Amino acid sequence: MSTEPTSVLLTDIGELFTGDPERPAISRAALLIAGGHVAWAGEAADAPPADTAYDVGGRAVIPGFVDSHSHLVFAGDRAAEFSARMAGESYSAGGIRTTVAATRAATDEHLVASVARLVAEMTRQGTTTVEIKSGYGLTVKDEARSLVVARQFTDETTFLGAHVVPEGTTPEDYVALVTGPMLEAAAPHAKWIDVFCERGAFDGDQARHILEAGQAVGLQGRLHANQLGPGPGVQLACELGLTAVDHCTYLSDADVDALKQTGTTATLLPGVEFSTRQPYPDARALLDAGVRVAIASDCNPGSCFTSSLPFCIALAVREMGMTPTEALLAATSGGAAALGREDVGRLAVGMRADLAILDAPGHAHLAYRPGVPLVQQTWVGGRRF
Ligand code: NIG
Ligand code: FE
Repeated sequence: MSTEPTSVLLTDIGELFTGDPERPAISRAALLIAGGHVAWAGEAADAPPADTAYDVGGRAVIPGFVDSHSHLVFAGDRAAEFSARMAGESYSAGGIRTTVAATRAATDEHLVASVARLVAEMTRQGTTTVEIKSGYGLTVKDEARSLVVARQFTDETTFLGAHVVPEGTTPEDYVALVTGPMLEAAAPHAKWIDVFCERGAFDGDQARHILEAGQAVGLQGRLHANQLGPGPGVQLACELGLTAVDHCTYLSDADVDALKQTGTTATLLPGVEFSTRQPYPDARALLDAGVRVAIASDCNPGSCFTSSLPFCIALAVREMGMTPTEALLAATSGGAAALGREDVGRLAVGMRADLAILDAPGHAHLAYRPGVPLVQQTWVGGRRF
């Protein structure tokens, strides 16, 4: 006979943030978990019986964060580049090549240990689903290797061979490699394909060609676009019906319209603007236009080396005109939408019991108490991490 309880009732929840669009938060709540999933959520007074109870002491319970954009497979350090930027240098895509050299030189064991450390760091801060991109290998072998490493930590793996054109090749030859042998080697280990569509990286025509090649072998597209300036990426993402387009810092009215019309999720990465001293995207304009918005970390060694969704939420509220509720929705159900996931991002019946317990009475404290480690516990699939 199993000694494991089959159901657990979280009791004395000061505020349960379910993420239900009609009623995102319930006060004095309880949550029943059975078989790793949410079996019931509501006011504590109405809670059903359970095998065991766990008293959270009046704290807030929120869905685990869904971080839909990260670049965790890398080696090396670019703190000097960051310091130079803070002394007045501007950010450019060229720094990616520094990380590429270090990543190629690293052993598999080193890369696995480094990703494990970063994923654990994310989990401690409440992230329960993470997307991980390749993009610091840029050879057939190194891109495939990066995805094999990423796959050990998540099903949400993204082939980003089209990050920059590496040294020693032409853009034409490199696009042919990315859409040919590299795609073939990467595809078995990836769910998504992504392109850095930006000046200094890949233009709109190259991005379209690469995304279509990926779609032809069963990968789903997503795109880095309109980060460093206006560009064709957002329109392209909408035209191709991509699930998400990420950065969206420089948008025209037509870009906003296209996002609204197609339902492509605009993923905002405010840690990047913080770490590059760039203007923040206008989240308020997107929300007011009815565009679906996600917030993610973009954790990477160059433009933004934070793994903290609470930090990104605080930035989104302070700098991008979002309310604390909108920002938390964007980092949970918004992230789930950006990954096309129906099973995570909310605490509704049937969803995976992925959650964070905050050392705070309500979710607004995530932005109200910036920089404070408020995540007391993270539960993944109904188990405490
Ligand atoms: O999302 N934009 C492209 N890739 C990363 C930055 C990569 C780097 O600088 O190493 C980003 O910001
Ligand atoms: Fe990125």
